[in-house]
Amino acid sequence: MEDLRVNLCGIELDNPVIPASGTFGYGYEFAELYDINVLGTFSFKGTTREPRYGNPLPRIAECTAGIINSIGLQNPGVEKVVAEELLKLKKCFNKPVIANVSGFSVEDYVYSCGKLDREPQVGWLEVNVSCPNVHGGGMSLGTDANKVSEIVKAVKKVVKKPVIVKLTPNVTDIVAIAKACEDAGADGICLINTLTGMRIDLKTKRPVIANKIGGFSGPAVFPVAMRMVWQVTDAVRIPVVGCGGVSSAEDVIEMMLAGATAVEVGAANLVNPFACRDIIEDLPETMRKYGIARLRDVIGGAK
Ligand code: FUM
Repeated sequence: MEDLRVNLCGIELDNPVIPASGTFGYGYEFAELYDINVLGTFSFKGTTREPRYGNPLPRIAECTAGIINSIGLQNPGVEKVVAEELLKLKKCFNKPVIANVSGFSVEDYVYSCGKLDREPQVGWLEVNVSCPNVHGGGMSLGTDANKVSEIVKAVKKVVKKPVIVKLTPNVTDIVAIAKACEDAGADGICLINTLTGMRIDLKTKRPVIANKIGGFSGPAVFPVAMRMVWQVTDAVRIPVVGCGGVSSAEDVIEMMLAGATAVEVGAANLVNPFACRDIIEDLPETMRKYGIARLRDVIGGAK
């Protein structure tokens, strides 16, 4: 019997498969399709202090082997997430959830993380300093090691739960940013968020996306994510959650061999809402095929 369990920052997951923030809503939407308790956990939609309508439409451009999005952190705001979304989630999910938090200032992150930290179902805080689709927040903070460090230190002062920092690949030196997170007291790192990209419509001769540039994800970015997981796990001691273009059980194992402790699945959920369930079902047979008895034993196994 294959053992799929992994430990993420002190909390045991039944398996390492985690739907990524922004591709799984607040979870209960997918519970209409299948029992989401099969998941290791999931990361809910990037939540901000204030409610946000998001960016103008269109927000999506389809690409070969991927998708560009520019949602703009549409969410009901942290108060409503606590009062409404988490209540709905509790009825269909009995595991700890990852709270993905975004913001426009240190104070925003402190406020929202502090509030979500007090929610019993929140197991981890995923500090999202990597959204490429907003001005003056998200990625513009996450490309500056000093700013990231300031946010992590401030959040760590007000929370008890593990803090995982979600990083952008749109930097020259991902290792420097990851080390700044570790030095500031982060408990884990998630990488990668989307790569900035754009498309132009030949008929209108205008950018497809209203905001012109968005975040590119999907199978095409998998090798980029692999490279960054490899480099960062060489340089830090805290666990790394791999993310980027994962769409099969093989991809999960490959990313764990590069050093990931757990693996987030993003764009694949937009193509097939059952993607994470299917990957989890495929894992035991894939492990047998490659002679793996305990999945946690493959973490960093290619080093
Ligand atoms: O536009 C968005 O809401 C994307 C968020 C993210 O990439 O973190």
